[in-house]
Amino acid sequence: MLALQEKFETYQSVVDTGLNTTLLSQELVPERLHEAIHYVVLNGGKRIRPILVFAAAEALGANMQQALAPAMAVELIHAYSLVHDDLPAMDDDDLRRGKPTCHVAYDEATAILTGDALLTYAFEVLAAEEIPLIDDKTRLTMIKLLATASGSQGMVGGQAIDLYAVGKNLSLEALKTMHSLKTGALIKASTLLGAYSAGNVTPTQINALAEYSTCIGLAFQIQDDILDIEGDTVVIGKSQGSDEAKNKPTYPALLGMDGAKQAAQDMHNKAIEALRIFDEKADTLRQISEYIVSRKH
Ligand code: IPE
Ligand code: IPE
Ligand code: MG
Ligand code: MG
Ligand code: MG
Repeated sequence: MLALQEKFETYQSVVDTGLNTTLLSQELVPERLHEAIHYVVLNGGKRIRPILVFAAAEALGANMQQALAPAMAVELIHAYSLVHDDLPAMDDDDLRRGKPTCHVAYDEATAILTGDALLTYAFEVLAAEEIPLIDDKTRLTMIKLLATASGSQGMVGGQAIDLYAVGKNLSLEALKTMHSLKTGALIKASTLLGAYSAGNVTPTQINALAEYSTCIGLAFQIQDDILDIEGDTVVIGKSQGSDEAKNKPTYPALLGMDGAKQAAQDMHNKAIEALRIFDEKADTLRQISEYIVSRKH
């Protein structure tokens, strides 16, 4: 696992440097908004989505520079989704990545605007930053893919289902759909954007990566639900027990803890199976799947 650790750190530092460079200065008017943007982006997230972009590009033989623009774009969308997810109108959480959430550190209006700015900036980055080996048509495919994954048929749709489901008993199928949308859609988009950024991906490879990322996306949210119960507030950097306190539909609530862990493991196994057509260049993707179901934060 040490090799994965090193790879994670390399990928994290490349995306952090990229984000640090591309984000507009905190001294720019309106300073408070730009400060809030820095506060929520450059604050030590795991960067799993950018890591997936890089790892998918790596599976196809492309380097990190080739995948940097989509890696930054998916993290910007993710950061926006967390800021809005924590708002009083949604999960009403006070702690994120070990620090006060955006609306607590600043104010609600600033948090809403921070999310809005990050969402639009993600597309600016994906449209404008250099992606050396791809043509404009591929770039448009990538922009559309990220837009669909982020919108009402993707992450935002999943968040809406999540909110409307509070206090209700969802079927396993409905819960799976909710998780696949609110979290899975962006994880899938991250993987596919990494693949497209390589400039040489085949439809067969896209299908295999779509299957892989659908599985790990669901596993990621199941593990998030598990950690909300079994995790430690200091380690997970967010308030443990938040889901139960808010009566959220989760895998452990529906299947019990053992059932939830089994479901995550089943998804991991399916993800590995989906990668069978790839050689050892996809080993980081394989390790990411393993990491997702064993992570502690
Ligand atoms: C948390 O995502 C929200 C979910 C979609 C489960 P992460 O666990 O990737 O959060 P950070 O980016 O590391 O803080
Ligand atoms: C969040 O799910 C999904 C998105 C932000 C899109 P959760 O509400 O479970 O995420 P955490 O636990 O607050 O990070
Ligand atoms: Mg939520
Ligand atoms: Mg939440
Ligand atoms: Mg959660």
